[in-house]
Amino acid sequence: MNLTVIGTGYVGLVTGACLADAGNNVFCLDLNEEKIKQLNEGKIPIFEPGLEAIVKRNEAAGRLRFSTDVAASVAHGELQLIAVGTPPGEDGSADLQHVLAAARAIGRHMKGYKVVVTKSTVPVGTADKVKQEIIAEMKKRAATGEKSGSDFSVVSNPEFLKEGAAVEDFMRPDRVIVGSEDPRAIARLRQLYAPFQRNRERIIVMSVRSAELTKYAANAMLATRISFMNELANLAEAIGADIEEVRRGIGSDPRIGYQFLYPGIGFGGSCFPKDVKALQRSADEAGRPLRLLHAVEAVNEAQKHVLTEKIRAHFQQNLKGKKIAVWGLAFKANTDDMREAPSQVLIGDLLREGASVAAYDPAAHEAARKIYSNEKNVQIVDGAVEALEGADALAIVTEWQEFRSPDFDAIKAKLKSPAIFDGRNLYDPPALKAQGIAYYPIGRKT
Ligand SMILES: NC(=O)c1ccc[n+]([C@@H]2O[C@H](COP(=O)([O-])OP(=O)(O)OC[C@H]3O[C@@H](n4cnc5c(N)ncnc54)[C@H](O)[C@@H]3O)[C@@H](O)[C@H]2O)c1
Repeated sequence: MNLTVIGTGYVGLVTGACLADAGNNVFCLDLNEEKIKQLNEGKIPIFEPGLEAIVKRNEAAGRLRFSTDVAASVAHGELQLIAVGTPPGEDGSADLQHVLAAARAIGRHMKGYKVVVTKSTVPVGTADKVKQEIIAEMKKRAATGEKSGSDFSVVSNPEFLKEGAAVEDFMRPDRVIVGSEDPRAIARLRQLYAPFQRNRERIIVMSVRSAELTKYAANAMLATRISFMNELANLAEAIGADIEEVRRGIGSDPRIGYQFLYPGIGFGGSCFPKDVKALQRSADEAGRPLRLLHAVEAVNEAQKHVLTEKIRAHFQQNLKGKKIAVWGLAFKANTDDMREAPSQVLIGDLLREGASVAAYDPAAHEAARKIYSNEKNVQIVDGAVEALEGADALAIVTEWQEFRSPDFDAIKAKLKSPAIFDGRNLYDPPALKAQGIAYYPIGRKT
């Protein structure tokens, strides 16, 4: 099939590349000229395991093209997949300006039948707005005597890929949600996703509105699990229990399960925080406030400061002149994404307290250097051990594999006050005690 992907970010690039790999002819459109230039020079603007090889293979085969040419891109695809950002607006609701701009671009340039597929995470009712924008543009064209002669359908097809495992998730989805009441469009989507579900059908067809809500419901549920575990971890710590033992104890119940049951320093990233907010806004507007989600958000905001509190307590509430090594800046492992990352909250706290920071992340160093370019008290270094040079203590923020079994002797030798503040519970408390390192995990007995 000929496909157009509008928006070439984490979702758009992975989607475009994987769909090209399945044999489709894909145009990836973006308004960001720098991004498209980089892609056309063979540079991948994001860190995502496995993505580069797929992009290169399909570009070389002529199935994957990157462009800023809106008219040519829209004309190309029978399916128009919208994967632009939906950042939070000032009141927390999803800002739909990019989605609606993409819809107008489609209306302005479409010829022939188009299936408009919304992959961006959007509130219930957005498909109707997309439809109205397209119709308005078509009317403008008709008024000038231009024949657009077009017929189209809007489908909600929310994306569930996880950054860090995005290619794998796209290639082997747990489910593909297709929100549509139009049999012709549904048939197109079945055809599109057929190569990704060879052993069993994973498409779930539902109404457009249910599909739009499903995406928010999934992220809100996952965020709720995290906040629940974080709050329980803080309780465990206060009353002498160990959250890791509790986690194993409850995860063994198949109704609960082990996945997504880890306490830590709060969720971040480009999705959970904004989606939890946007769903709350939608619920408020509908007169059905989601009280649980207010708590989920409040717990998360507080949790992002938990490591700071532990660091302050260790240093008798005085961090002036202290240097803290930070391992991990990305909001989770295997990505370079620092949007809403808890590391930014921790670093902000430390700077306000008069401390300085030497931080290392295996992938997010470039993103971090942009964020902290004007901050003389934050140094982004190129290695985990380098971050420890002259530092008083170490804080671990992201669960990168390379932090899991470090050389504790080296850590002890380099830190002025050998202490590790572990926001991801990576280590065994008795082992650290035996090493003579003060260890502060989340919700554990030390
Ligand atoms: N990142 C994730 O893990 C993830 C997972 C599932 C769903 N989502 C959702 O997918 C959507 C995209 O997220 P993302 O992380 O890929 O965003 P992103 O910010 O990485 O990429 C969005 C891209 O869209 C481009 N863009 C904006 N307006 C445009 C327009 N009118 N025409 C063409 N290009 C335009 C931007 O330049 C940018 O490159 C969001 O709604 C997000 O909530 C994201």
